[in-house]
Amino acid sequence: MKDDVLKTLIGEEELKERVRELGEQITRDYQGKNLLLVSVLKGSIAFMADLMRAIDLPLSIDFMAVSSYGAGVKTSGVVKIIKDLDIDLKGYDLLIVEDILDSGMTLSYIMEMLEAREPSSVKICTLLDKPERRQVSVAPAYVGFTVPDEFVIGYGLDYDEKYRNLPYIGVLKPEVYTK
Ligand code: PRP
Ligand code: MN
Ligand code: MG
Repeated sequence: MKDDVLKTLIGEEELKERVRELGEQITRDYQGKNLLLVSVLKGSIAFMADLMRAIDLPLSIDFMAVSSYGAGVKTSGVVKIIKDLDIDLKGYDLLIVEDILDSGMTLSYIMEMLEAREPSSVKICTLLDKPERRQVSVAPAYVGFTVPDEFVIGYGLDYDEKYRNLPYIGVLKPEVYTK
């Protein structure tokens, strides 16, 4: 697995520190609110698991699964709901937890869909933002790191369903996805 990694982009310690900061910021911002963390599977699992433990507030969690990439490297532009949320959103302050904001297709679709269910508020927390690839405008309230247009893997992010278990964010060797 490590042979397929070109370089480390964000190391374990740097991830840990940034997640701690985001948790503190969210803790301040959501005092007295009814926070519901919505994790977008599968990519956000590592970030979600760490972020929720960095927030010192009573909160609820829920999960939804969507897919836009399939097995390819580039987005298809088609967002498919594979698993919907269980919780009725009325009265909740939603924070959508994502691993990466890339073209923006996934998050713009999810935002619109969840806003229609009339929660008290909806905001986005994304670990990574890759603004160079944006196709639709999405404004995240919290961003962990802005990353260049390279194929990033690890800490939840996959290529062809692999590498999610790398404990850091790495760049995939181009020969892995061109062969
Ligand atoms: C990836 C990533 C984001 C989305 C970002 O998910 O985890 O959810 O794509 O891309 P976009 O901004 O261009 O829409 P993917 O569809 O690969 O599913 P996964 O989380 O199960 O890997
Ligand atoms: Mn995803
Ligand atoms: Mg994926």
